[in-house]
Amino acid sequence: MKPSSLKNRHVLLAVTGGIAVYKAAELVRRLRSEEAEVTVVMTESSQRFITPLTLESLSGNRVCTDIFSEPMAHINLPESADLFVIAPATANIIGKLASGIADDMVALSFLAFKGPVIFAPAMNWRMYEHPVVQRNIKTLKDLGFHEIEPEEGELACGEYGVGRMADVERIVEAVKGCLTKKDLDGLKVLVVAGPTREYIDPVRFISNRSSGKMGYALARVALRRGADVTLVSGPVSVDPPPGATVVRVETSDEMLEAVKKNIGGVDILVMAAAVADFVPDDYSPDKREKGEKFTLRLRPSPDIVKAVSDMKTRPFIVGFSAETGPNIAKAEKKLREKGMDFIVFNDVTLDGAGFDCDTNKVSIIDEDGIADYPLMSKEDCSEIIFDHYLRHSK
Ligand code: PMT
Repeated sequence: MKPSSLKNRHVLLAVTGGIAVYKAAELVRRLRSEEAEVTVVMTESSQRFITPLTLESLSGNRVCTDIFSEPMAHINLPESADLFVIAPATANIIGKLASGIADDMVALSFLAFKGPVIFAPAMNWRMYEHPVVQRNIKTLKDLGFHEIEPEEGELACGEYGVGRMADVERIVEAVKGCLTKKDLDGLKVLVVAGPTREYIDPVRFISNRSSGKMGYALARVALRRGADVTLVSGPVSVDPPPGATVVRVETSDEMLEAVKKNIGGVDILVMAAAVADFVPDDYSPDKREKGEKFTLRLRPSPDIVKAVSDMKTRPFIVGFSAETGPNIAKAEKKLREKGMDFIVFNDVTLDGAGFDCDTNKVSIIDEDGIADYPLMSKEDCSEIIFDHYLRHSK
Protein backbone atom coordinates (compact mmCIF):
# COMPACT_ATOMS: atom_id res chain seq x y z
CA MET A 1 0.00 0.00 0.00
CA LYS A 2 1.34 3.44 -0.94
CA PRO A 3 1.02 6.77 0.83
CA SER A 4 -1.53 8.87 -0.99
CA SER A 5 -0.69 12.39 0.14
CA LEU A 6 -0.50 13.57 -3.50
CA LYS A 7 -3.87 12.19 -4.51
CA ASN A 8 -5.85 14.75 -6.54
CA ARG A 9 -2.88 17.15 -6.56
CA HIS A 10 -1.68 18.52 -9.89
CA VAL A 11 2.06 19.00 -10.40
CA LEU A 12 3.27 20.99 -13.39
CA LEU A 13 6.78 19.73 -14.09
CA ALA A 14 9.12 21.94 -16.12
CA VAL A 15 12.08 20.15 -17.67
CA THR A 16 15.09 22.09 -18.91
CA GLY A 17 18.14 20.93 -20.82
CA GLY A 18 20.97 19.21 -18.98
CA ILE A 19 22.20 15.67 -18.61
CA ALA A 20 20.11 15.29 -15.42
CA VAL A 21 17.01 15.30 -17.63
CA TYR A 22 17.02 11.51 -17.51
CA LYS A 23 16.07 11.77 -13.83
CA ALA A 24 12.94 13.72 -14.80
CA ALA A 25 11.51 10.47 -16.17
CA GLU A 26 11.92 8.81 -12.78
CA LEU A 27 10.49 11.88 -11.07
CA VAL A 28 7.35 11.68 -13.21
CA ARG A 29 7.04 7.97 -12.43
CA ARG A 30 7.40 8.54 -8.68
CA LEU A 31 4.90 11.41 -8.61
CA ARG A 32 2.44 9.24 -10.52
CA SER A 33 3.03 6.38 -8.09
CA GLU A 34 1.97 8.80 -5.32
CA GLU A 35 -1.22 9.38 -7.34
CA ALA A 36 -0.34 12.95 -8.38
CA GLU A 37 -1.61 14.28 -11.69
CA VAL A 38 1.51 15.33 -13.65
CA THR A 39 1.75 17.56 -16.71
CA VAL A 40 5.12 18.30 -18.29
CA VAL A 41 6.42 21.33 -20.13
CA MET A 42 9.83 21.16 -21.81
CA THR A 43 12.34 23.58 -23.22
CA GLU A 44 13.78 23.12 -26.69
CA SER A 45 17.19 22.02 -25.39
CA SER A 46 15.78 19.46 -22.94
CA GLN A 47 14.30 17.59 -25.92
CA ARG A 48 17.82 16.91 -27.16
CA PHE A 49 18.37 14.74 -24.09
CA ILE A 50 14.98 13.02 -23.82
CA THR A 51 11.93 12.95 -26.07
CA PRO A 52 8.54 14.35 -25.05
CA LEU A 53 7.12 10.91 -25.85
CA THR A 54 8.93 9.39 -22.83
CA LEU A 55 7.45 11.91 -20.41
CA GLU A 56 4.08 11.77 -22.16
CA SER A 57 3.95 7.99 -21.71
CA LEU A 58 4.96 8.18 -18.06
CA SER A 59 2.69 11.09 -17.13
CA GLY A 60 -0.30 10.02 -19.21
CA ASN A 61 -0.63 13.65 -20.33
CA ARG A 62 0.39 15.52 -23.44
CA VAL A 63 3.75 17.28 -23.07
CA CYS A 64 3.79 20.95 -24.13
CA THR A 65 6.92 22.23 -25.80
CA ASP A 66 6.10 24.86 -28.39
CA ILE A 67 4.70 28.27 -27.47
CA PHE A 68 3.54 28.98 -30.99
CA SER A 69 1.71 25.77 -31.82
CA GLU A 70 -0.13 25.91 -28.47
CA PRO A 71 -0.36 29.61 -27.69
CA MET A 72 -2.63 29.23 -24.64
CA ALA A 73 -0.91 26.24 -22.97
CA HIS A 74 1.36 28.44 -20.82
CA ILE A 75 -1.77 30.06 -19.35
CA ASN A 76 -4.08 27.06 -19.08
CA LEU A 77 -1.62 24.56 -17.62
CA PRO A 78 -0.42 26.75 -14.71
CA GLU A 79 -4.01 27.67 -13.93
CA SER A 80 -4.95 24.10 -13.06
CA ALA A 81 -1.69 23.20 -11.24
CA ASP A 82 -1.16 23.15 -7.46
CA LEU A 83 2.64 23.22 -7.68
CA PHE A 84 5.28 24.15 -10.25
CA VAL A 85 8.46 22.06 -10.18
CA ILE A 86 11.49 22.83 -12.33
CA ALA A 87 13.75 19.78 -12.45
CA PRO A 88 16.40 19.87 -13.64
CA ALA A 89 16.82 23.65 -13.50
CA THR A 90 19.76 24.78 -15.62
CA ALA A 91 21.83 27.93 -15.01
CA ASN A 92 20.13 29.33 -18.11
CA ILE A 93 16.55 28.91 -16.88
CA ILE A 94 17.47 30.13 -13.39
CA GLY A 95 18.91 33.29 -14.97
CA LYS A 96 15.84 33.80 -17.15
CA LEU A 97 13.38 33.31 -14.29
CA ALA A 98 15.33 35.60 -11.97
CA SER A 99 15.22 38.40 -14.52
CA GLY A 100 11.71 37.85 -15.87
CA ILE A 101 12.68 36.76 -19.37
CA ALA A 102 9.86 34.67 -20.84
CA ASP A 103 10.74 33.30 -24.25
CA ASP A 104 9.99 29.58 -23.92
CA MET A 105 7.27 27.29 -22.59
CA VAL A 106 8.92 26.88 -19.16
CA ALA A 107 9.63 30.55 -18.49
CA LEU A 108 6.19 31.62 -19.75
CA SER A 109 4.43 29.02 -17.60
CA PHE A 110 6.48 30.13 -14.58
CA LEU A 111 5.29 33.72 -14.97
CA ALA A 112 1.69 32.61 -15.43
CA PHE A 113 1.72 30.39 -12.34
CA LYS A 114 0.36 31.61 -9.01
CA GLY A 115 1.44 29.18 -6.30
CA PRO A 116 4.44 27.41 -4.77
CA VAL A 117 7.47 26.82 -6.98
CA ILE A 118 10.31 24.35 -6.41
CA PHE A 119 13.46 24.34 -8.51
CA ALA A 120 16.22 21.72 -8.48
CA PRO A 121 19.46 23.11 -10.00
CA ALA A 122 21.75 20.77 -11.92
CA MET A 123 25.02 21.91 -13.47
CA ASN A 124 28.81 21.75 -13.27
CA TRP A 125 30.10 22.75 -9.82
CA ARG A 126 31.97 25.79 -11.11
CA MET A 127 28.82 27.02 -12.82
CA TYR A 128 26.82 26.44 -9.63
CA GLU A 129 29.36 28.37 -7.57
CA HIS A 130 29.51 31.22 -10.07
CA PRO A 131 28.46 34.48 -8.36
CA VAL A 132 26.02 35.29 -11.15
CA VAL A 133 24.24 31.94 -10.75
CA GLN A 134 24.31 32.29 -6.96
CA ARG A 135 22.88 35.80 -7.25
CA ASN A 136 20.06 34.52 -9.50
CA ILE A 137 19.29 31.67 -7.09
CA LYS A 138 19.21 34.14 -4.21
CA THR A 139 16.84 36.38 -6.16
CA LEU A 140 14.46 33.45 -6.69
CA LYS A 141 14.73 32.36 -3.05
CA ASP A 142 14.18 35.90 -1.78
CA LEU A 143 11.00 35.98 -3.85
CA GLY A 144 9.77 32.89 -1.99
CA PHE A 145 10.65 30.16 -4.49
CA HIS A 146 12.11 27.04 -2.96
CA GLU A 147 15.49 25.67 -4.04
CA ILE A 148 16.22 21.98 -3.59
CA GLU A 149 19.96 22.26 -3.35
CA PRO A 150 22.08 20.07 -5.62
CA GLU A 151 24.16 17.28 -4.14
CA GLU A 152 27.90 16.76 -4.00
CA GLY A 153 29.31 13.93 -6.05
CA GLU A 154 30.71 12.89 -9.38
CA LEU A 155 29.25 15.05 -12.13
CA ALA A 156 28.40 14.09 -15.71
CA CYS A 157 31.46 16.01 -16.94
CA GLY A 158 33.68 13.71 -14.86
CA GLU A 159 34.49 16.36 -12.28
CA TYR A 160 33.61 16.16 -8.62
CA GLY A 161 31.68 18.81 -6.72
CA VAL A 162 28.30 20.26 -5.78
CA GLY A 163 26.01 20.39 -8.80
CA ARG A 164 24.33 17.01 -9.15
CA MET A 165 20.55 17.35 -9.19
CA ALA A 166 18.94 16.39 -5.87
CA ASP A 167 17.89 12.80 -5.57
CA VAL A 168 14.38 12.13 -6.90
CA GLU A 169 13.16 11.10 -3.42
CA ARG A 170 14.26 14.47 -2.01
CA ILE A 171 12.29 16.23 -4.73
CA VAL A 172 9.21 14.08 -4.06
CA GLU A 173 9.53 14.88 -0.34
CA ALA A 174 9.80 18.61 -1.12
CA VAL A 175 6.70 18.34 -3.32
CA LYS A 176 4.78 16.72 -0.46
CA GLY A 177 6.11 19.33 1.99
CA CYS A 178 4.94 22.19 -0.24
CA LEU A 179 1.46 20.73 -0.60
CA THR A 180 0.95 19.90 3.08
CA LYS A 181 -0.89 22.11 5.54
CA LYS A 182 1.55 23.31 8.21
CA ASP A 183 -0.66 22.46 11.17
CA LEU A 184 2.31 21.46 13.38
CA ASP A 185 4.10 24.73 12.71
CA GLY A 186 5.88 26.07 15.80
CA LEU A 187 5.83 22.69 17.57
CA LYS A 188 8.92 20.78 18.65
CA VAL A 189 8.56 17.05 18.11
CA LEU A 190 10.97 14.44 19.47
CA VAL A 191 10.63 11.08 17.71
CA VAL A 192 12.48 8.08 19.12
CA ALA A 193 12.88 5.26 16.60
CA GLY A 194 14.53 1.95 15.86
CA PRO A 195 15.93 -0.82 18.04
CA THR A 196 18.56 -0.71 20.74
CA ARG A 197 21.56 -3.01 21.03
CA GLU A 198 22.48 -4.39 24.42
CA TYR A 199 26.01 -5.73 24.37
CA ILE A 200 27.01 -9.10 25.82
CA ASP A 201 30.65 -8.54 24.87
CA PRO A 202 32.37 -6.18 22.39
CA VAL A 203 31.14 -8.18 19.38
CA ARG A 204 27.74 -9.57 20.38
CA PHE A 205 24.49 -7.94 21.37
CA ILE A 206 20.79 -8.55 22.02
CA SER A 207 18.45 -6.56 19.80
CA ASN A 208 15.11 -6.84 18.01
CA ARG A 209 13.53 -6.61 14.55
CA SER A 210 12.75 -2.88 14.52
CA SER A 211 13.80 -1.28 11.22
CA GLY A 212 13.04 2.30 12.27
CA LYS A 213 10.49 2.66 9.43
CA MET A 214 7.60 3.62 11.73
CA GLY A 215 9.59 6.26 13.61
CA TYR A 216 11.20 7.65 10.46
CA ALA A 217 7.75 7.96 8.81
CA LEU A 218 6.56 9.88 11.89
CA ALA A 219 9.55 12.22 11.66
CA ARG A 220 9.01 12.75 7.91
CA VAL A 221 5.32 13.54 8.33
CA ALA A 222 5.93 15.87 11.31
CA LEU A 223 8.50 17.80 9.25
CA ARG A 224 6.12 18.01 6.31
CA ARG A 225 3.45 19.41 8.61
CA GLY A 226 5.81 22.15 9.77
CA ALA A 227 7.24 20.80 13.05
CA ASP A 228 10.80 21.20 14.23
CA VAL A 229 11.89 17.55 14.50
CA THR A 230 14.61 15.80 16.45
CA LEU A 231 15.00 12.11 15.73
CA VAL A 232 16.76 9.95 18.29
CA SER A 233 17.51 6.75 16.45
CA GLY A 234 18.84 3.32 17.22
CA PRO A 235 20.93 1.61 14.53
CA VAL A 236 18.87 1.34 11.32
CA SER A 237 19.57 1.40 7.60
CA VAL A 238 16.80 3.78 6.48
CA ASP A 239 17.74 7.33 5.50
CA PRO A 240 16.64 10.07 7.90
CA PRO A 241 14.30 12.69 6.44
CA PRO A 242 16.09 15.86 5.34
CA GLY A 243 15.53 18.62 7.87
CA ALA A 244 15.46 16.46 11.01
CA THR A 245 18.15 16.81 13.67
CA VAL A 246 19.37 13.24 14.03
CA VAL A 247 20.94 11.84 17.21
CA ARG A 248 22.28 8.32 16.79
CA VAL A 249 22.45 5.93 19.71
CA GLU A 250 23.02 2.23 20.22
CA THR A 251 22.04 1.10 23.69
CA SER A 252 18.97 1.79 25.86
CA ASP A 253 21.19 3.77 28.27
CA GLU A 254 22.38 5.96 25.39
CA MET A 255 18.80 6.34 24.16
CA LEU A 256 17.68 7.48 27.62
CA GLU A 257 20.55 10.00 27.82
CA ALA A 258 19.78 11.34 24.31
CA VAL A 259 16.09 11.74 25.16
CA LYS A 260 16.90 13.55 28.43
CA LYS A 261 19.35 15.84 26.63
CA ASN A 262 16.88 16.75 23.89
CA ILE A 263 13.60 16.89 25.83
CA GLY A 264 13.85 20.58 26.80
CA GLY A 265 11.16 22.62 25.04
CA VAL A 266 9.68 19.56 23.32
CA ASP A 267 5.90 19.70 22.77
CA ILE A 268 5.35 16.10 21.65
CA LEU A 269 7.40 12.98 22.41
CA VAL A 270 6.61 10.06 20.09
CA MET A 271 8.17 6.90 21.41
CA ALA A 272 8.12 4.49 18.46
CA ALA A 273 11.43 2.86 19.39
CA ALA A 274 11.61 -0.79 20.27
CA VAL A 275 13.80 -0.44 23.34
CA ALA A 276 15.27 -3.81 24.29
CA ASP A 277 13.57 -4.68 27.57
CA PHE A 278 16.57 -6.54 28.94
CA VAL A 279 20.23 -5.64 29.30
CA PRO A 280 23.00 -8.21 29.97
CA ASP A 281 23.96 -7.83 33.61
CA ASP A 282 27.52 -9.06 33.29
CA TYR A 283 29.04 -7.48 30.18
CA SER A 284 32.35 -9.08 29.31
CA PRO A 285 34.95 -6.56 28.11
CA ASP A 286 36.71 -9.42 26.27
CA LYS A 287 35.13 -11.51 23.55
CA ARG A 288 33.64 -14.61 25.15
CA GLU A 289 35.34 -17.79 23.99
CA LYS A 290 33.42 -20.33 21.93
CA GLY A 291 32.62 -23.54 23.75
CA GLU A 292 32.57 -21.89 27.14
CA LYS A 293 29.12 -22.62 28.64
CA PHE A 294 27.64 -19.67 30.46
CA THR A 295 24.36 -18.31 31.76
CA LEU A 296 23.41 -14.84 30.59
CA ARG A 297 21.81 -12.83 33.38
CA LEU A 298 19.58 -9.98 32.25
CA ARG A 299 18.27 -6.95 34.07
CA PRO A 300 15.46 -4.63 32.95
CA SER A 301 16.50 -1.72 30.74
CA PRO A 302 15.72 1.85 31.83
CA ASP A 303 12.12 2.80 31.07
CA ILE A 304 12.59 5.85 28.88
CA VAL A 305 8.98 6.88 28.44
CA LYS A 306 8.34 6.57 32.19
CA ALA A 307 11.40 8.72 32.93
CA VAL A 308 9.89 11.47 30.74
CA SER A 309 6.34 11.18 32.10
CA ASP A 310 7.76 11.52 35.64
CA MET A 311 9.41 14.85 34.77
CA LYS A 312 7.99 18.00 36.37
CA THR A 313 7.57 19.69 33.02
CA ARG A 314 6.65 17.03 30.53
CA PRO A 315 5.62 17.06 26.89
CA PHE A 316 2.55 15.42 25.40
CA ILE A 317 3.52 11.73 25.24
CA VAL A 318 2.59 9.29 22.49
CA GLY A 319 3.74 5.73 23.11
CA PHE A 320 3.52 2.54 21.12
CA SER A 321 2.57 -0.92 22.25
CA ALA A 322 3.99 -3.84 20.26
CA GLU A 323 2.02 -6.96 21.09
CA THR A 324 1.89 -10.50 19.77
CA GLY A 325 -1.85 -10.97 19.45
CA PRO A 326 -4.93 -8.82 20.00
CA ASN A 327 -3.84 -7.89 23.54
CA ILE A 328 -5.39 -4.44 23.75
CA ALA A 329 -5.62 -4.80 27.53
CA LYS A 330 -1.80 -4.90 27.76
CA ALA A 331 -1.62 -1.67 25.79
CA GLU A 332 -4.18 -0.03 28.08
CA LYS A 333 -2.11 -1.08 31.09
CA LYS A 334 1.06 0.46 29.55
CA LEU A 335 -0.86 3.65 28.76
CA ARG A 336 -1.82 4.05 32.44
CA GLU A 337 1.39 2.80 34.05
CA LYS A 338 3.78 4.74 31.82
CA GLY A 339 1.76 7.98 32.03
CA MET A 340 1.27 8.45 28.28
CA ASP A 341 -1.40 10.69 26.73
CA PHE A 342 -2.26 8.05 24.18
CA ILE A 343 -0.81 4.78 22.98
CA VAL A 344 -0.63 3.27 19.50
CA PHE A 345 -1.28 -0.45 19.64
CA ASN A 346 0.09 -2.70 16.89
CA ASP A 347 -0.19 -6.48 16.74
CA VAL A 348 3.21 -7.36 15.27
CA THR A 349 2.09 -10.89 14.29
CA LEU A 350 -0.33 -9.56 11.63
CA ASP A 351 0.75 -9.55 7.96
CA GLY A 352 1.98 -6.08 6.96
CA ALA A 353 1.94 -4.77 10.52
CA GLY A 354 4.67 -3.96 13.05
CA PHE A 355 8.32 -4.66 12.33
CA ASP A 356 10.26 -4.02 9.15
CA CYS A 357 7.49 -3.32 6.66
CA ASP A 358 6.13 -0.16 5.03
CA THR A 359 2.62 -0.62 6.39
CA ASN A 360 1.01 -0.92 9.80
CA LYS A 361 -2.38 -1.65 11.32
CA VAL A 362 -2.93 0.33 14.49
CA SER A 363 -5.48 1.14 17.17
CA ILE A 364 -5.14 4.38 19.09
CA ILE A 365 -6.10 4.14 22.74
CA ASP A 366 -6.73 7.08 25.05
CA GLU A 367 -8.99 7.88 27.99
CA ASP A 368 -11.94 8.24 25.61
CA GLY A 369 -11.65 4.74 24.17
CA ILE A 370 -10.18 2.83 21.24
CA ALA A 371 -10.08 3.90 17.59
CA ASP A 372 -9.27 1.05 15.16
CA TYR A 373 -7.71 1.73 11.78
CA PRO A 374 -7.27 -0.50 8.72
CA LEU A 375 -3.92 -1.55 7.23
CA MET A 376 -2.24 1.51 5.71
CA SER A 377 1.22 2.90 4.94
CA LYS A 378 3.33 3.95 7.92
CA GLU A 379 3.18 7.51 6.57
CA ASP A 380 -0.61 7.45 6.62
CA CYS A 381 -0.49 5.99 10.17
CA SER A 382 1.73 8.93 11.13
CA GLU A 383 -0.80 11.39 9.67
CA ILE A 384 -3.51 9.81 11.81
CA ILE A 385 -1.33 9.94 14.93
CA PHE A 386 -0.65 13.67 14.51
CA ASP A 387 -4.34 14.32 13.67
CA HIS A 388 -5.16 12.55 16.93
CA TYR A 389 -2.67 14.76 18.79
CA LEU A 390 -4.23 17.92 17.32
CA ARG A 391 -7.72 16.82 18.42
CA HIS A 392 -6.35 16.16 21.94
CA SER A 393 -4.53 19.46 22.20
CA LYS A 394 -7.62 21.55 21.37
O1 PMT B 1 10.73 0.10 13.48
P1 PMT B 1 9.72 -0.67 12.64
O2 PMT B 1 10.34 -1.87 11.97
O3 PMT B 1 8.99 0.23 11.70
O4 PMT B 1 8.65 -1.28 13.64
C1 PMT B 1 7.75 -0.46 14.31
C2 PMT B 1 7.53 -0.90 15.76
C3 PMT B 1 6.84 -2.25 15.78
C4 PMT B 1 8.86 -1.00 16.50
C5 PMT B 1 6.63 0.22 16.41
O5 PMT B 1 5.43 0.31 15.72
C6 PMT B 1 6.35 -0.09 17.87
O6 PMT B 1 5.42 -0.78 18.24
N1 PMT B 1 7.21 0.44 18.77
C7 PMT B 1 7.18 0.18 20.23
C8 PMT B 1 7.85 -1.14 20.53
C9 PMT B 1 7.88 -1.46 21.99
O7 PMT B 1 8.93 -1.48 22.56
O8 PMT B 1 6.71 -1.61 22.56
P2 PMT B 1 6.49 -2.02 24.12
O9 PMT B 1 5.06 -2.36 24.17
O10 PMT B 1 7.48 -3.00 24.56
O11 PMT B 1 6.78 -0.67 24.90
C10 PMT B 1 5.76 0.29 25.23
C11 PMT B 1 6.30 1.70 25.11
O12 PMT B 1 7.33 1.92 26.06
C12 PMT B 1 6.92 2.01 23.77
O13 PMT B 1 6.56 3.32 23.39
C13 PMT B 1 8.40 1.89 24.01
O14 PMT B 1 9.14 2.73 23.14
C14 PMT B 1 8.53 2.35 25.46
N2 PMT B 1 9.64 1.73 26.20
C15 PMT B 1 9.79 0.39 26.26
C16 PMT B 1 10.81 -0.16 27.01
C17 PMT B 1 11.70 0.70 27.68
N3 PMT B 1 12.72 0.21 28.37
N4 PMT B 1 11.54 2.02 27.60
C18 PMT B 1 10.52 2.56 26.89
O15 PMT B 1 10.37 3.79 26.83
